[in-house]
Amino acid sequence: MTDVNAVLVAELVAAGIERREARWLVEEFVLGGDLDTVPALNAAARRRLEGEPLQYIIGHWPFRSLDLDLDSRVLIPRPETEELVGAALQELAKGGVVAPTILDLGCGSGAIGLALLDELRSRGIVATLVAVDESLEALEVARRNALKHQLHAVSFVHSSWFADVDESLQGHVDLVVANPPYVGDVEFAHLDRVLTYEPRDAIVAPDAQGVAGFADLEVIINEARRWLTPEGILLCEHGSEHRDAVVAAATSAGFTSVEDLDDLSGRPRLLVARR
Ligand SMILES: C[S@@+](CC[C@H](N)C(=O)[O-])C[C@H]1O[C@@H](n2cnc3c(N)ncnc32)[C@H](O)[C@@H]1O
Repeated sequence: MTDVNAVLVAELVAAGIERREARWLVEEFVLGGDLDTVPALNAAARRRLEGEPLQYIIGHWPFRSLDLDLDSRVLIPRPETEELVGAALQELAKGGVVAPTILDLGCGSGAIGLALLDELRSRGIVATLVAVDESLEALEVARRNALKHQLHAVSFVHSSWFADVDESLQGHVDLVVANPPYVGDVEFAHLDRVLTYEPRDAIVAPDAQGVAGFADLEVIINEARRWLTPEGILLCEHGSEHRDAVVAAATSAGFTSVEDLDDLSGRPRLLVARR
């Protein structure tokens, strides 16, 4: 870091920005000590001090092997979701599928599906991805991320869950992955203010079966099975209070093997159901 940049970092810290974030902002906006870019840095710092997430201000963020473009049209991908991708890769490796077809429901920025394609590609496996979202804006961001990473075997589908997915895929999907909205209204009202910068429809789901935020999980679990190959797998991220409901839903939907995994901080988080 140049002396000029060190001074700029110190100024941001004095203004109230955490040192690590101040360094990121300076590295992002002031390349090589170019003082012409300081107004842009100051504008970014003001946004951060008002509470906007750093990821939107910087406009991109790492997710597994990818640097994803992000803005307020999509959810900021979470570290737990990186674990979902890891688990999906392990499941695919166990099944030994040569050219998997993957359905990413509620793709948002494209994080899950595109990371899977990219990491499979680096293992010499050519997968095909169908990326679905109800938000046209999210699909635009996901499409841009696919182009950015030269991931071409992707089709983008504007659909509410499976409703407008091509029916000819039924029985042919090796892996359904989803990180749907799963926060109930009441919980949302008490969550971190940072979440108010993210699209509400990406976070909040109606209640179902008397379970807060369960409605989208319920639809996905109920409908996924008929889209899967006989060896196909559903991986679905859920809220930490949803374990009983997702296991019950997957069992009654007819999945033959149903597991629910904790995330790295020990919270119930990931349904793994085999057709
Ligand atoms: C929690 S975000 C997940 C985004 C991304 N998969 C990730 O993990 O970062 C949920 C996504 O589901 C989408 N979504 C919400 N309701 C939907 C529906 N009925 N059908 C399809 N997508 C939906 C939202 O637009 C949002 O992009």
